[in-house]
Amino acid sequence: MSKTLTINGKSHQIDLPDDAPLLWVLRDEVGLTGTKFGCGVAACGACTVQIDGEAVRSCQVPLSDVEGEVTTIEGLGTPDAMHALQTAWVKHQVAQCGYCQSGQIMQAAALLSEVPNPSDSQIDEAMQGNLCRCGTYPRIRAAIHDAAANLEG
Ligand code: FES
Ligand code: FES
Repeated sequence: MSKTLTINGKSHQIDLPDDAPLLWVLRDEVGLTGTKFGCGVAACGACTVQIDGEAVRSCQVPLSDVEGEVTTIEGLGTPDAMHALQTAWVKHQVAQCGYCQSGQIMQAAALLSEVPNPSDSQIDEAMQGNLCRCGTYPRIRAAIHDAAANLEG
């Protein structure tokens, strides 16, 4: 199929089969490699991006189902400034190997859009599908609290 997608505010003409996963579109067609392939079966969260602000597992969204504006980790901040979550991630040195982290941040950004000042349990619930083999969960939680405080500022 041929379809125009809006990704990080730019239009892209995509010519791929209907069932091409959004993750492949992003990485192989558009060259946005910040979004990672982990499990391929919606079980790890490494491939998390947003469609119209909602966190989705891009490995399980076929091109034919993509309706709305796609945002990836490359488009979360602005050209001039990182998103508050990215700033907090750096401050708390959240990443270890880093592989899961773009998915974690995109999931956390969707959470903060819905719940501006989440409790620990709201964070844990929202983030439970995003796995981190390096075990950075305590720092993820701390960074989300910090970003929430800065955004509320
Ligand atoms: S690669 Fe999509 S959830 Fe694991
Ligand atoms: S930082 Fe290594 S898997 Fe999360």
